[in-house]
Amino acid sequence: MTKRIAITGGAGFVGSNLAIMIARDRPDCSVIALDNLKRRGSELTLPRLAEAGVEFKHGDVRIATDLEQLGDVDCLLECSAEPSVLAGHGESPAYLIDSNLNGALNCLEHLRRTGGEMIFLSSSRVYSIPALLELPLTPSGQRFDIAADASGEGWSGKGIAEDFSTSGPRSLYGTTKLAAEAFIAEYRAAYGLRATVYRCGVLTGPWQMGKVDQGFVTLWMARHLFGGPLSYIGHGGDGTQVRDVLHVADLYDAIAPSLDGVGDLDGQTFNLGGGRDVSVSLRELTDHCERISGNTIEIASVPETRPNDIAYYITDTSRIETQTGWQPKRSLEETLEDIHRWLIEHRRVLEPILGGGTS
Ligand SMILES: NC(=O)c1ccc[n+]([C@@H]2O[C@H](COP(=O)([O-])OP(=O)(O)OC[C@H]3O[C@@H](n4cnc5c(N)ncnc54)[C@H](O)[C@@H]3O)[C@@H](O)[C@H]2O)c1
Repeated sequence: MTKRIAITGGAGFVGSNLAIMIARDRPDCSVIALDNLKRRGSELTLPRLAEAGVEFKHGDVRIATDLEQLGDVDCLLECSAEPSVLAGHGESPAYLIDSNLNGALNCLEHLRRTGGEMIFLSSSRVYSIPALLELPLTPSGQRFDIAADASGEGWSGKGIAEDFSTSGPRSLYGTTKLAAEAFIAEYRAAYGLRATVYRCGVLTGPWQMGKVDQGFVTLWMARHLFGGPLSYIGHGGDGTQVRDVLHVADLYDAIAPSLDGVGDLDGQTFNLGGGRDVSVSLRELTDHCERISGNTIEIASVPETRPNDIAYYITDTSRIETQTGWQPKRSLEETLEDIHRWLIEHRRVLEPILGGGTS
């Protein structure tokens, strides 16, 4: 029988790229993407999905009956979300909680009734902000750094591991993800659901509709090409904050083996990210963008740190590397070149979304 793979949030950056790569590599599968098109620019992916042979269903994960459109699926990749770490600040958290937590619960309920496994896109934001703020950072050139031989509970020079603290505030967004993870564990125990959780750091690549609060890598490159404001926000305002970056195609490589069944990855949680070798500070990112785009733009400085912002996050991917042999293949330069090519090729439709008029 044809395998059915469903992707919620399937018109978003991650969901659409995964759906298209799955359809490319798995002509034996029927691939269904469900999305409510809330994210600006997600509508641009509809022709791409259609061309790849992915069936699109307009639906909202907050509404349990919308998921009935998926039918019996063998595997559901839950990639829908309000993914901003600032969501709910200065506004009601209702949409965030409804989408990220109740939406995930509706996906679990759908799987309980119909069978099928879950691959859940969680976030590095489940980790404790106070604990992350206590990491012993030292300025090093244009970035913060941690001594390669330093270590503590759940962290080392390689980055943050899965046993890092999740206690204390972690942002409303991070809490919706951790709560969803807790329900996945309950559905495994109570109903025998099979599921794997991936806690992702910064993901990027073509078709990410970058905003200041989510998707900064594509936004940075887009502003270098199309113009528009950029600021180094927080941590003194000099752009020394550091993240590791994972190309969405590397994320696919990590997840793809589970599409035939999560196997012995059932019940496991993995950090996914580019790791120390694919990390970058904002200042360094500016240098890369200037070199690749050939443009230099003015970047403002806002010294005050915004809520939930952290100076440093690098993923320790030892657990998944040891268990599956996966490693990120794309270098930072390759990833940025890829984004640059995409922006040039689709300039007409992307400039109104990623250019100067937006935030
Ligand atoms: N991009 C990253 O850096 C990153 C990092 C860690 C985790 N994640 C997680 O990966 C997943 C995908 O993120 P992304 O970067 O593709 O974000 P995205 O915003 O590009 O995609 C999310 C999609 O979900 C859709 N959506 C939102 N609310 C919905 C609802 N109620 N019903 C149906 N669809 C809805 C949006 O329209 C959008 O197309 C999310 O779960 C996110 O939390 C992303």
